[in-house]
Amino acid sequence: MPRTATLTVDGKTLILPIIEGTSGEAGIDVSKLRDQTGLLTYDPAYGNTGACSSKITFIDGDKGILRYRGIPIEQFDTNPNFIEVAWLLIFGRLPKPDELLRFSRKLTLNAMLHEGMKHHFEGFPVNAPPMAILSAMINTLSCFDPEMLHLGDDAEKMEDAAASLISKVRTIAAYSYRRHKGLPFVYPDPRLRYCANFMHMMFTYPYDQYILDPVIDEALNLIFILHADHEQNCSTSTVRMVGSSKANLFASVAAGVCALWGPLHGGANVEVIDQLTEIHKGGISPEEMLQQVKDKKRQLMGFGHRVYKNFDPRARMLQKVAEKVFAKTNRRDPLLDIARKLEELALKDSYFVDRKLYPNVDFYSGIIFRAIGIPLEMFTVMFSIGRLPGWIAQWKEQHDAPGGRIARPRQIYTGTPLAEYIPIDRR
Ligand code: SDX
Repeated sequence: MPRTATLTVDGKTLILPIIEGTSGEAGIDVSKLRDQTGLLTYDPAYGNTGACSSKITFIDGDKGILRYRGIPIEQFDTNPNFIEVAWLLIFGRLPKPDELLRFSRKLTLNAMLHEGMKHHFEGFPVNAPPMAILSAMINTLSCFDPEMLHLGDDAEKMEDAAASLISKVRTIAAYSYRRHKGLPFVYPDPRLRYCANFMHMMFTYPYDQYILDPVIDEALNLIFILHADHEQNCSTSTVRMVGSSKANLFASVAAGVCALWGPLHGGANVEVIDQLTEIHKGGISPEEMLQQVKDKKRQLMGFGHRVYKNFDPRARMLQKVAEKVFAKTNRRDPLLDIARKLEELALKDSYFVDRKLYPNVDFYSGIIFRAIGIPLEMFTVMFSIGRLPGWIAQWKEQHDAPGGRIARPRQIYTGTPLAEYIPIDRR
C-alpha cells in the first residue's frame, strides 16, 4: 500500500501521495496542491523542498553518508582516479577499461583551447578574479564549438561534450591564473594525465618544467573526487534551474560557477584561510573569534551544513589527505594547527553542538591547496574543476528525463496591493 499524507485546508481534505526514494528518503508530492487548493507551499531557501528525483548522489546527513551512484565516498580513497569517477557520475556506472581509455583520449584531444580564445583572456585586466574569468570563458567555449549547443539524444555527442568541457575547464582554469599573474600561457602536454597536466599549465616556466609528485597527484585526484557531486546544492540547483529552460550545457555550467563563487558555498574555502590567517597574525585568538561567532558578529567559515548534521565525511577524509601531503612536502602549516584548535573548541561548545555545526568540505581543503602550492585566489576554481562532473551529470539527467518542465517557483507577494502611476513632470 503506497504511503500518503492527509492535508486539511479550510475544511477540505486532500490525500497527497508520498514519493519514496531507494534509500529511505521520502517526500510529500504537492505538485497538484495549487490546482486543488489555490495555495502554495512556502519554503524559502528550500530547506524542505525536493526539487527533483535523482539517481546520481545520495547523502544521509544525520549519519554522515555520501555515495556516488551508490558507492560510498570512502571507497575512492585507494588509487583515486578523478576521470573514472567523473564518468561514473555522468554515465551512471563505472566505466569498462576501454571506455575509460576512450574518454581519456577524448580529454587529451580536447585539452587545447581555440587560439582565438587566447585573445579573450588578454582582454581581462591582469588582476581579474579567476572565478569571473572561468565563468565567462566557459560560456565563450560555446561560441567556438556551436555543435555542442545542440546535444539532442546523441550519446556519443554527449560524451564528446563532457570530455571537452572537463578537459577545457582545466586549461581555462590554468590560463585564468596565468593571466591573473601576467604570465605566458603554457600549452597542455598530451603525455600528462589530468592533474599533472593542470599543474604543468599552472606552474611550468620556460626555465623550469613542473613535475607533479605522485603523492600530490593522488591527493589532487582524491580532492577533486570529494568535490565531484553533492546532490542539489546551490550551484547544482543553479545548473538545473538554468538547464530547465533548455539552455545549453555550457551556459548552465557557467551559471553554476557563479553560484559556487559565493562565500556561503564554494567561496568559503578562501574565507576559511582568511579567518585562520587572521588568528595566525595575532589579530584575534581562536577563543575570541568563536565568541564573535556566538555573538552573531561573524560566521565560522567552513563550518555548518544544510544537510550534514553529524559530520561531513569529506572533511574527515580531507584531514587525512592533509596529513599525507604535509608528510610529503615536509612542511607543517601553522594554519592546520589553528584549524584543529578551532575545531576542538567549537566541538565542545554548546553553540555549535546545539546547532549541529561541524567542519564541512571547505574547512580543510584550503590548507591542502596551500601546501600543494595553489594560490588562494584559485581555491574556488579548484572546487569548480572538481564539481564539474557533477554539474554535467545533473544537467544530463535533467536533459534526458522525459517531459521536463521549466523550473519556476512562485512567491507570496507582500508588496503594496494596488498603487497608482503618477508620471513625473519632465518638462
Ligand atoms: C558548501 O549544500 C551543499 O551540499 C554545499 C557543499 C557542496 O558540496 O556543494 O557541501 C559545499 O557550500 C559547504 C558550505 C560552505 N559554507 C560555509 O562554510 C560558510 C559557513 N557556513 C554557513 O554559512 C552555513 O552553515 C551554511 C551556508 C553552510 C548552511 O546554512 P543553513 O543551512 O542555512 O544554516 P542555518 O541558517 O539553518 O543555521 C542554523 C543555525 C543558525 O543559528 P540560529 O539562527 O539558529 O541561532 O546555525 C547557525 C545559524 O546562524 N550557523 C552558524 C554557522 N552555520 C550556521 N553559526 C556560525 N557559523 C556558522 N558557520
